[in-house]
Amino acid sequence: MSTEQKIERLRELRRESSQPDNQRAVERQHDAGKLTARERIELLLDKGSFQEIDPFVQHHETAFGVADKRPLGDAVVTGWGTVDGRNVFIFAEDFTRFGGSLGAVVADKICKVIDLAMDTGTPVIGLKDSGGARIQEGVLSLNGYGRIFERNVRASGVIPQISIIMGPCAGGAVYSPALTDFVYQVEGTSHLFITGPDVIKAVTGEAVSMDALGGAHAHASQSGVTHFVVADDREALEEVRFLLSFLPSNNMEVPPFFTPMDPPDRMDESLTTIVPDAANQPYDVKDVIEGIVDEGEFYEVHEHFAQNIVVGLARLDGYTIGIVANQPQVLAGTLDIDASVKGARFVRFCDSFNIPLVTLVDVPGFLPGVDQEHDGIIRHGAKLLYAFSEATVPRVTVILRKAYGGAFLVMNSRAVRADVVFAWPSAEIAVMGAQGAVNVIHRRELAAADDAEARRTELVEDYEERFNNPFVAAEHGLVDDIIEPRETRPRLVRAMEMLRNKRESLPPKKHGNIPL
Ligand code: HXC
Repeated sequence: MSTEQKIERLRELRRESSQPDNQRAVERQHDAGKLTARERIELLLDKGSFQEIDPFVQHHETAFGVADKRPLGDAVVTGWGTVDGRNVFIFAEDFTRFGGSLGAVVADKICKVIDLAMDTGTPVIGLKDSGGARIQEGVLSLNGYGRIFERNVRASGVIPQISIIMGPCAGGAVYSPALTDFVYQVEGTSHLFITGPDVIKAVTGEAVSMDALGGAHAHASQSGVTHFVVADDREALEEVRFLLSFLPSNNMEVPPFFTPMDPPDRMDESLTTIVPDAANQPYDVKDVIEGIVDEGEFYEVHEHFAQNIVVGLARLDGYTIGIVANQPQVLAGTLDIDASVKGARFVRFCDSFNIPLVTLVDVPGFLPGVDQEHDGIIRHGAKLLYAFSEATVPRVTVILRKAYGGAFLVMNSRAVRADVVFAWPSAEIAVMGAQGAVNVIHRRELAAADDAEARRTELVEDYEERFNNPFVAAEHGLVDDIIEPRETRPRLVRAMEMLRNKRESLPPKKHGNIPL
């Protein structure tokens, strides 16, 4: 064969590898509202940037009727390309081939891109659409999953890992996305579960639909597995591009800088009246966030889960920050189990990837309740405390209103090494609210009083006057300064600027023992 013929042969094989071997399967994919693996890659990456790896890989299996079907590239498309000019590695499961199922060579291909991503400090994105372990390959397929899981763990905290669930993802296969930093789920077409509706029906008798069990909303609002719900494949891929704009490529880099349109010294007068005078009246903490960050742009993570805490990414004077804020609109902003876990995971992500943290505090305490106690609020609440305490990135706190008891400490207080703590004049920093405090410390006096209610009101007012303000904390240096709400942005910009070269490390250890 001449060189020209060899080149022609190469071109033919390339075409064959990138062609669907089954047009019917492609049509089914489209009819289901899903794009193919290659269409997805095209939308995710900058135009023309995709560099494929392993397009000629074929499975070695000879049993169970797959011997005659050995498509080039098998059931996953892998490689790298750029998003806004920065490299990312991708693997896109191809449902049109063996239902995207994972055999040994599919696992080999995925492991190869994760290894390359690790070696080069590059994010890795998995597009998931698969029938799971390739039944014909048995234990080799299971072993393949195991090899991927181990790599997900090794890569955790080194490179950002993002999963987009765009079809089925069932059985143990779910653990790869679960180990990654962010999970997107497409509404309607994606399902995640360990055991499906039929098995559940057989074992427990419970009847549940695929969507109610493992659909995007179930995991975004109930289990917390899913961070982002998206309407379709296109939206998923656009959102991931946006997310990447906030992130560094690896743990040795800082996130990219974007020249802001928003002046660093911009005051926001609307913040002056945002906290209602009545202590038990709610407001939306997202309005505070939007008043502070560049162009009011906030990319909320876990929007539908544990809504009593708000977490997400934004920029302050062009630099990425992570925001953790109590939400007075939901459960009065108390910390419960889900909120603690959500906050802790986000804080640890930011700390892993050099993203400074801004904490906005309005927390009346941990949520009281027998269920909360018995389900482990002590253990789970400790996660948030642990996460803030071990974070070495710049950490700035603004106390907006309530900061009571243990929850005050947990929410990035000075005691757990916040670098800078500001308070608004409306801040109330105390062991507990005035009513509760008066009931405890004046119980005997109130029981004996002729006019207990009038005396209680007097005592509450006195307590509020003395303790429910930020000046006592400021007197002790637990608050660095009391600032006007409108000047929050400029003060945060200055504080972050001062902290830009912060260098802090934890004592040498193999790893800590976070209360899991
Ligand atoms: C081999 C598979 C496959 C699999 C699907 N296919 N799943 N081939 N191994 N696991 C093939 C089908 O035979 C079919 O091939 C093609 O993919 C499309 O599948 P359909 O069933 O026609 O598609 P659809 O109706 O959309 O249903 C999709 C599905 C269903 C819900 C995913 O295929 C399904 O239930 N598959 C089995 C799921 C499963 O039990 N997997 C194991 C999970 S346990 P043809 O040639 O007809 O086009 C697991 C363990 C992991 O994954 C453990 C890790 C530790």
